[in-house]
Amino acid sequence: MNKNRRRVYEGKAKILYEGPEPGTLVQHFKDDATAFNKQKHQIIEGKGVINNRISEFVFNRLNEIGVPTHFIRRLNMREQLIREVEIIPLEVVVRNVAAGSLSKRLGLEEGAALPRSIIEFYYKSDELQDPLVSEEHITAFGWATPQELDDIMALALRVNDFLSGLFLGIGIRLVDFKMEFGRLYEGEMVRVVVADEISPDSCRLWDVQTNEKLDKDRFRRDLGGLVEAYQEVARRLGILTEQDQRERKRPVLVKTDR
Ligand code: TMP
Repeated sequence: MNKNRRRVYEGKAKILYEGPEPGTLVQHFKDDATAFNKQKHQIIEGKGVINNRISEFVFNRLNEIGVPTHFIRRLNMREQLIREVEIIPLEVVVRNVAAGSLSKRLGLEEGAALPRSIIEFYYKSDELQDPLVSEEHITAFGWATPQELDDIMALALRVNDFLSGLFLGIGIRLVDFKMEFGRLYEGEMVRVVVADEISPDSCRLWDVQTNEKLDKDRFRRDLGGLVEAYQEVARRLGILTEQDQRERKRPVLVKTDR
C-alpha cells in the first residue's frame, strides 16, 4: 500500500484516498463511531473491517442486479476501490417501519409498520445537522435536477425492495436505511450511481424473531455489543473474515487414540 498517497477527503467513519488510476479512489473504513453529529464519538475496534466486508457484499449484489454503484472491488481488510463520483449532497433515507427520527417527529410507536415505504431527503450539512428537506428544496436550490431526483427515487426503491428480501432471507428486518448517490462522469455521459456505504452503520436491522437491534442504534442508545451484532449480520450473510478464512485453511491436527 502506498503510504504517501494523497488524502482526498476525511469523514467521520471513512477516508478517501486517490486511487491507482485516474477516476478511481480508495475508500478506507475507520473504527470511529459517531452519533448526533459527532457529539458522541468512540473508537470501536474491528468495526471498520466488518463494515468494509458487509458493504462490499451489498454493493456486489447491487452491481449483479444492474443497480449502478461506485463500487469496483475490495482491496484489503479496510479498503475498497471505488469510482470517483461527485457526491449529491443528500442523505436519502428509505423507511419500512417507524423508528428513530420519524417516530420522534410524528409520534409513531417504534416498530409500527408504515402504510408503504417512505423516502425522505436530508441535506448533507454538518453545520445545519442534516436538515430534512423536500423535493422542492432540492430542485429549487439545484442540489439535484428533477431528472436526477427521479432516478434517485427509482433506485432507492429498487435497492429497498432488493435488500428487504435479502435480509428477510436471513431473519433480519430492514427497518430503514440511508443511501448516498453520486454523479459518475463517463465522457459526455453523466449517470446517477449509488455511492458511500451500506452497512449496519447506515441501516436499522432488527432480528425478525426477537427484534434485537443489529445496527448502530446499539451505539447511539448505549446498548453495547456493537461489534458482536455486526459480526452476526456478517455471519448470516455468509461473509467470513479473512482471519476466519486463514484459520480454516490452517492444517488441523488429527487426534487419534494411539
Ligand atoms: P433517523 O431515524 O435517525 O433519521 O435515521 C434513519 C436511517 O438513516 C437509519 O437507518 C440510520 C441512518 N442514518 C445514517 O446513516 N446517518 C445519519 O447521520 C443518520 C441521522 C441516520
